[in-house]
Amino acid sequence: MIELTPIFNAMLGAEIPFEKFSKDTRVTFFTGAGISAESGIPTFRSTGGLWSKYDPVKLASPEGFNENPQLVLDWYAWRRDAIRLADPNPAHLSITKFQKLFHDSAVITQNVDSLHSRAGNNSVLELHGNIFRERCNNCGEENGLNSDERTKIRYCHCGGMLRPDVVWFGETLENQKLEQAFELTGACQIFFSLGTSTQVYPAAQLPFYAKEHGAYTIEINTERTPFSNHTDLFIKDAAGHALPNLYEEFYAAVS
Ligand SMILES: NC(=O)c1ccc[n+]([C@@H]2O[C@H](COP(=O)([O-])OP(=O)(O)OC[C@H]3O[C@@H](n4cnc5c(N)ncnc54)[C@H](O)[C@@H]3O)[C@@H](O)[C@H]2O)c1
Ligand SMILES: [Zn+2]
Repeated sequence: MIELTPIFNAMLGAEIPFEKFSKDTRVTFFTGAGISAESGIPTFRSTGGLWSKYDPVKLASPEGFNENPQLVLDWYAWRRDAIRLADPNPAHLSITKFQKLFHDSAVITQNVDSLHSRAGNNSVLELHGNIFRERCNNCGEENGLNSDERTKIRYCHCGGMLRPDVVWFGETLENQKLEQAFELTGACQIFFSLGTSTQVYPAAQLPFYAKEHGAYTIEINTERTPFSNHTDLFIKDAAGHALPNLYEEFYAAVS
């Protein structure tokens, strides 16, 4: 494993085996809350992250919702408002550029904020749902989000309560999405792990799976993670700083 710090940014790509890659190389981007940090959206687990201020069990679990749905709806309305004011940052925008260079590429995100799509990324798999959708707590049917009544408790025609369409603590991911994520990961030749603490399973298994299946792995994070000792290249830096630089290096070497 090679570790680079920002001081080496001018030669970020020095260690990358560019000769192995071409425009047909399959690339998968796996992202977590850290990629949206520079858009002003707080992360979960880092110092000062959301879970250091709020109790995740009360705000992001089925039990919390059953106990106090109003509190949960208010909290999600507040987060949606904050996200609406945020813009995609240079990391999201670099992925759009990378996807023009490597046409066979996809994004697997744990984020629920839509910033990948807003930045023009394509083939985005939202593993943990999307905060701008609601679904029924009982039958699962998706329901449009009524922005005028967004903090009101509303019911589905089946009698179930409407809730944010995101994966909460203690809930399982949709099988089909998870399978697709593992397929995209197992089949790629370059795997980026960007701004994720690599601690929330099963998603956290993806970077390890990529490595096991022969991908060249690049991790960008401001802190080390459980994957940092396993990745081919670890860049200790903000994604919005390192990724645009890395794109320039790939562009020069591959296009
Ligand atoms: N509904 C919910 O609210 C809820 C509930 C349960 C789980 N979750 C999920 O748990 C997941 C937690 O995992 P995660 O990895 O996404 O978030 P995380 O908060 O656990 O980790 C964020 C990571 O980003 C890094 N980071 C911070 N700023 C950065 C920057 N500028 N550039 C690069 N890296 C930066 C941090 O060092 C950290 O490792 C979330 O994605 C979320 O979907 C959410
Ligand atoms: Zn229903």
